[in-house]
Amino acid sequence: MKIFTTKQALQQYLAQIKAAGKTIGFVPTMGALHLGHLSLIEQAQQQNDVIVCSIFVNPSQFNDPKDLEKYPRTIEADTRLLEQVNCDVLFNPEVNEMYDGNEHWHLNMGELERLLEGKFRPGHYQGVTQIVYKLFNIVNPDTAYFGQKDYQQFAVISKMVELMQLPVKLVMCAIKREDDGLAMSSRNIHLTADDRLHALILSKTLYWVKENFSSHQIASLQSEAASLISAEPGVELEYFEIADGSTLHPANESTKSAVALVAAKVGKTRLIDNIILS
Ligand code: PAF
Repeated sequence: MKIFTTKQALQQYLAQIKAAGKTIGFVPTMGALHLGHLSLIEQAQQQNDVIVCSIFVNPSQFNDPKDLEKYPRTIEADTRLLEQVNCDVLFNPEVNEMYDGNEHWHLNMGELERLLEGKFRPGHYQGVTQIVYKLFNIVNPDTAYFGQKDYQQFAVISKMVELMQLPVKLVMCAIKREDDGLAMSSRNIHLTADDRLHALILSKTLYWVKENFSSHQIASLQSEAASLISAEPGVELEYFEIADGSTLHPANESTKSAVALVAAKVGKTRLIDNIILS
């Protein structure tokens, strides 16, 4: 695997790949890689000639400096994993390679950045779009792969691609779960053994909502789900919403594609999860 830490060296290398008529699949990450990330790489490998993975803990998307500080950084283990799955290129820049310290970014995403995650993490999606835009410009991928676990992130990035008419195809890959249902996340390493057990209420509730979706009213499902999660010890619910899968506005009985999304603090760790209902 080739490893680059500067934009220039990476771009020079990728220019040769493009000139040879090869397609580039891109998997942007913040590291602390798990099987969920590896499934993105695998899907990218099935559909492209060359795979680029980036590992960059992006400061501009953290609204809480303590969260940024405590974000897991495991670059040696990540590099080994990427080598094991035959990733072709790793881009692992320092912060000053990506930001010159004097930048302004604002993308008008409308409601999408104020709903759900946007309410609890103000500015988060400005930071996400800022870095993903930069990465797309550097890597110039044919296709980029993102996990369904951050469903709203996928919607936001799709909106950016549409607004800025970026020449990249986006693919959303299914959530990878542990055997007991917990959605894989880099943040799971912060869960204590007790947290780990209590966290299961999120996926259990999402599955329960999916099972009952066709036979119950949305409002009653939503309030029952919120009560189930709030009753779990050590879990502080932020939101449980059944939303329209494309606008993320609250769903109603005539919504065609619905998704249930949840965010909660489990002990000290904030987790998100979702399930596609229809
Ligand atoms: O999903 C993530 O890991 C990050 O938000 C991303 C897309 C790599 C941007 O920093």
